Amino acid sequence: MLITNATLPDGRSGIDVLVQGGRIVALGPKLAAPQGIETVDAAGQLLSPPFVDAHFHMDATLSYGLPRVNASGTLLEGIALWGELKPQLTQEALVERALQYCDWAVARGLLAIRSHVDVCDDRLLAVEALLHVRERVKDYLDLQLVAFPQDGVLRSPNALANLKRALDLGVDVVGGIPHFERTMADGAESVRLLCELAAERGLRVDMHCDESDDPLSRHVETLAFQTQRLGLHGRVTGSHLTSMHSMDNYYVSKLIPLMAEARLNAVANPLINITLQGRHDSYPKRRGMTRVPELMAAGIDVAFGHDCVMDPWYSLGSGDMLEVAAMGLHVAQMTSQAQMRACFDAVTANPARILGLAGYGLEPGANADFVLLQAGDPVEAIRLRATRLLVVRRGKVIARAPAAAATLDLPGRPARVDWRLQR
Ligand code: FE2
Repeated sequence: MLITNATLPDGRSGIDVLVQGGRIVALGPKLAAPQGIETVDAAGQLLSPPFVDAHFHMDATLSYGLPRVNASGTLLEGIALWGELKPQLTQEALVERALQYCDWAVARGLLAIRSHVDVCDDRLLAVEALLHVRERVKDYLDLQLVAFPQDGVLRSPNALANLKRALDLGVDVVGGIPHFERTMADGAESVRLLCELAAERGLRVDMHCDESDDPLSRHVETLAFQTQRLGLHGRVTGSHLTSMHSMDNYYVSKLIPLMAEARLNAVANPLINITLQGRHDSYPKRRGMTRVPELMAAGIDVAFGHDCVMDPWYSLGSGDMLEVAAMGLHVAQMTSQAQMRACFDAVTANPARILGLAGYGLEPGANADFVLLQAGDPVEAIRLRATRLLVVRRGKVIARAPAAAATLDLPGRPARVDWRLQR
């Protein structure tokens, strides 16, 4: 396959991309087309590496309304509701819902997902279901699984043993939830033992950390410390980190350099943070998302995750990482050109590094995985939630969509709407 006349996220335009054997073999202006090769004219549209979601819950997705809807809309009612649903789960239903979500993801050009999977059910039903799904989808979607002790690795009776069993079964990453343990001390202890477990097994860590409006929830400090102590630099991720929104500025001026020293990664979940945080506030209501621009300025890899789609915590969503980026941009007020582009990176290149994806990116030698977007650049892609014209995996088109279009019937106005700026 030869893609011609593409614009790349870094701004290069008029670029051709030659694909052979599932890999990009050449990239540059005006490449010669080998005989008999399929040619796709990108017509100056944006060719991007696929979207990557660094934080998701595939065991809960598409369960909205089961067994009931979250009435208060809070994180804690969501956790309680999930607890009610867990005993009713079946492997078939879990697999079915996860596969359907993967279809949605592929159609949106989302080809890599890190999903937490709850290990607090002694049957490990969800673990087995998602391991099965990981295998089923591996030709078209990279699914990375995190062993997540939703009810607390110390607080929930068999959670640690179950978490180890999940890792033995092939789950990829060690999870945790220190702010949900009974005490601050237990939270810190959970971070220590889970990081040690990851170090012993040579695994990455991704913890739900400080998903709270409590400015004194400071487990991220312990996470950075254990990362640095155990030499896990670059392999540990703090997800949510919403308490940082409410922390004292002086304390944060110490904390962010410690996070940078440990090369801790950070994942904000804008749609969910803006929905679930600040629920105990009257007015003003806090936004509750972590300090994204400040973390990025310190050189920390920050990704935006989707976290939830139609589950006990969130009733909306469709696997569209451009919707996630748009919400992140607004909540963090990242409105300069450079910051808006950084929001695009937060759903593409940054999470790819956090997941440790091999062969990701648009360069010779990389996997021929990409998305052709109906947009001229990353900012326009976010603004328009651009249509995914083509989704390509290992050089093969796996999804396509017609260009978004609308016609007008207005006297004296053009017949066709063009949402681009006319200059
Ligand atoms: Fe989460």
